[in-house]
Amino acid sequence: MQKVVPVITVDGPSGSGKGTLAALIARELGWHLLDSGALYRIVAAVGIERQIDLNKGAALAAVTAGLDIQFHDNGARVDGKELGLRIREEAVSAGASIVAAHPDVRHAVLDLQLKQRRPPGLVADGRDMGTVVFPDAPFKIYLDASLESRAERRYKQLLDKGLAANLHRLLAGLRERDQRDKGRTVSPLKPAPDAFIIDSTSLSIQAVLALSLERARAIGLI
Ligand code: C5P
Repeated sequence: MQKVVPVITVDGPSGSGKGTLAALIARELGWHLLDSGALYRIVAAVGIERQIDLNKGAALAAVTAGLDIQFHDNGARVDGKELGLRIREEAVSAGASIVAAHPDVRHAVLDLQLKQRRPPGLVADGRDMGTVVFPDAPFKIYLDASLESRAERRYKQLLDKGLAANLHRLLAGLRERDQRDKGRTVSPLKPAPDAFIIDSTSLSIQAVLALSLERARAIGLI
């Protein structure tokens, strides 16, 4: 019988540190990494570039289905072109949560996500990894943090990357995205019933990593 490829899901709101946590777990275990938010960011960036109304789900889904997306260690190539930092800009961040609310777009993105489940294992970072995309994952993490600490982290990240940032705008943008991500009808952001919930407001990323690995060992996954 074929062995099921294990998945660790890391869900949570923007800026909770889940992207960093997922990358660290994947590196520690030598597993593949899926940054599902990048897929919605790519759809938003392509939509903006092609001047498609981001409220038009069917048009965006048609574009998504035709995109050639190749993930690699340092990011992704879309239709042969290297994706730069553009998908991290605020306009694209806001656009991503708008396009992600369309069921047609989510359906088009689903296949791309499932294909990333390859041996020896996958660490999948997003909003609905544990609830919808990989509901059979043996270990589901839900990483939360206060709105203020998330805004501050995002602010520092953007500055570190040499991008412009404004703390008040980031706070307002995060609040709006939280509402959109938690309030939508399809795949809303929420912990899976069997999720291991960590609040990282006053924890370092190393402490969160240690807690996660300890739990993975305790359940016999690693
Ligand atoms: O995680 P990141 O901030 O890159 O995600 C960008 C946006 O994509 C989120 O605000 C959310 O609306 C959407 N998203 C989603 N489902 C996922 C991952 C991201 O709806 N699994």
